[in-house]
Amino acid sequence: MLLRPTVWLLLATLLGVYGGNVFRHIQHRVFLSKEQEARSHLAKGMQWHLTPQLSMPKEMMLTQLLDHFNRQEKRTFKQRYYVNDAYWQKPHGPVFLYIGGEGSLSPYSVQYGHHVEMAQQYKALLVALEHRYYGVSLNEDGLTDENIHFLSSQQALADLASFHLFITQQYNMSSSNKWICFGGSYPGSLSAWFRLKFPHLVYAAVSSSAPVRAQLDFTGYNQVVAASLSNPVVGGSKECLQAVRKAFQVVDKMLKAGNLSVLEKDFFSCGNLSLPEDQAQLVSNLADIFMGAVQYDHEITGSNIADICSIMTSGPSYTQLIRVLQRYLETEGMKCLDNSYQMELLVLRNTSLSPSGVGERQWYYQTCTEFGYYQTCEDSRCPFSPLMTLQSQVQLCQEVFGVPLSSVDESVHFTNEYYGADHPKSSRILFVNGDIDPWHALSVLHNQSRSELAILINGTSHCANMNSARPTDTFPLKMARLEIANQVGHWLQAAQEELSKND
Ligand SMILES: *[C@@H]1O[C@H](CO)[C@@H](O)[C@H](O)[C@H]1NC(C)=O
Ligand SMILES: *[C@@H]1O[C@H](CO)[C@@H](O)[C@H](O)[C@H]1NC(C)=O
Ligand SMILES: *[C@@H]1O[C@H](CO)[C@@H](O)[C@H](O)[C@H]1NC(C)=O
Ligand SMILES: *[C@@H]1O[C@H](CO)[C@@H](O)[C@H](O)[C@H]1NC(C)=O
Ligand SMILES: *[C@@H]1O[C@H](CO)[C@@H](O)[C@H](O)[C@H]1NC(C)=O
Ligand SMILES: *[C@@H]1O[C@H](CO)[C@@H](O)[C@H](O)[C@H]1NC(C)=O
Repeated sequence: MLLRPTVWLLLATLLGVYGGNVFRHIQHRVFLSKEQEARSHLAKGMQWHLTPQLSMPKEMMLTQLLDHFNRQEKRTFKQRYYVNDAYWQKPHGPVFLYIGGEGSLSPYSVQYGHHVEMAQQYKALLVALEHRYYGVSLNEDGLTDENIHFLSSQQALADLASFHLFITQQYNMSSSNKWICFGGSYPGSLSAWFRLKFPHLVYAAVSSSAPVRAQLDFTGYNQVVAASLSNPVVGGSKECLQAVRKAFQVVDKMLKAGNLSVLEKDFFSCGNLSLPEDQAQLVSNLADIFMGAVQYDHEITGSNIADICSIMTSGPSYTQLIRVLQRYLETEGMKCLDNSYQMELLVLRNTSLSPSGVGERQWYYQTCTEFGYYQTCEDSRCPFSPLMTLQSQVQLCQEVFGVPLSSVDESVHFTNEYYGADHPKSSRILFVNGDIDPWHALSVLHNQSRSELAILINGTSHCANMNSARPTDTFPLKMARLEIANQVGHWLQAAQEELSKND
């Protein structure tokens, strides 16, 4: 019924935090491509009569308190959610909650993906909640400096608790309806944290590609990027990594020598590179193409480690870096590369609402006030330019939100104290990661206990396990999905046994 031709976030995917605008463009393409995939997946299902629900789920809105932690604050906002009851075994069947993240939520969130396949298998009700301050789930003035401070993971978890109550009432549920939550990337963390902080509301959680450890200087991101570029399992090689490193060294040398006009021409810069901050933007933008290819390996056609490595190793590294950029610009239909730092500031300071896509300003605010996650390159193992500094990224917190460095650092420590970082003390959580994904460095990779379990998938990147099955899926990925589905089955069975014991 409600078919929105919008960009959406099925598998929530983390921002490249800050670097250039290139990462943002790559993400945009990933979203479009996933939307297309979901559409054709559903179309195929209908063709074979496998999908009982022919119409799109209706967009629904829930009235939510703006501040759950101050009972004097009476303001509210409308929060978007979707429900799919096509597979649900009434009235006692389980509830699968899909948690939204740093972008708009689509109706496909209850129609496509591995959690939907599992809902079909276990006869679950599918519900999905958009994260506050993203998509349409915020007030008109929400992004202004005065009003953005109601955005936090703590408020988001309280939203989930109130959503749990709402759905329970709407569907006349009881404690026999077991909830399991799902999320990937930042929502993967929320999924683990919802189980950790509200164990009476949610029976178990699957947490995919979740950077549960906050970190100010996320230097590990580019260490994994380097490892992935040299990993033969995904088409990388030592030669590829070496070529990338060399190309960036040449660019750095030319920047140091003040050879700007050559760089401007060679790298199709829209404006001149006179300002040091624009030079930093150039190297960030170039690095983004590689970071994007690694984080979203095979999520979009033509952007993957194997392709980018085959270009980098088939000629002099500097020339091949130009080729990589050329190919990127062609795909995007762009004539030049925008390296303006001032433009970046305008994007982050923009308080206009955009109902679809990633919320750049909101997410940057969350990095400044909760998580850090700045992907720096000051460590010698990083193959890109050391001009990608922590200073340049944290400075944006000050320039955009007036949040000083000391405060960002304190917030990151508090977040880890509050949630337990990568050694949470909870139960019935399954952490799933791919070893190619740079974000796995901040997640839980080993079993913590008999019920806090971890799966590390060989050769996959960010949130790959959350997709519905594809013909190109590797054996380790197929096995991982099977293990996840079995674990969910074990949990539901254990819940059943608990219930019958109590009767
Ligand atoms: C819940 O119960 C009420 C009253 O018993 C009934 O009117 C309503 O239709 C039920 N809702 C659902 C979704 O079953
Ligand atoms: C600038 O770069 C060009 C082309 O790489 C090179 O020929 C020239 O020597 C460089 N000039 C300086 C000052 O580095
Ligand atoms: C670089 O571009 C800016 C803005 O377009 C201009 O003001 C400045 O004069 C240019 N600098 C050089 C060296 O061309
Ligand atoms: C600010 O955001 C609005 C809504 O997304 C957009 O239309 C506008 O172009 C943006 N302005 C700038 C300077 O980015
Ligand atoms: C983690 O626990 C699961 C379930 O008990 C078990 O099957 C798996 O082998 C364990 N993994 C490791 C690395 O010990
Ligand atoms: C991943 O799988 C490849 C075979 O495809 C194997 O050579 C490699 O050792 C595996 N890596 C790990 C970390 O298990």
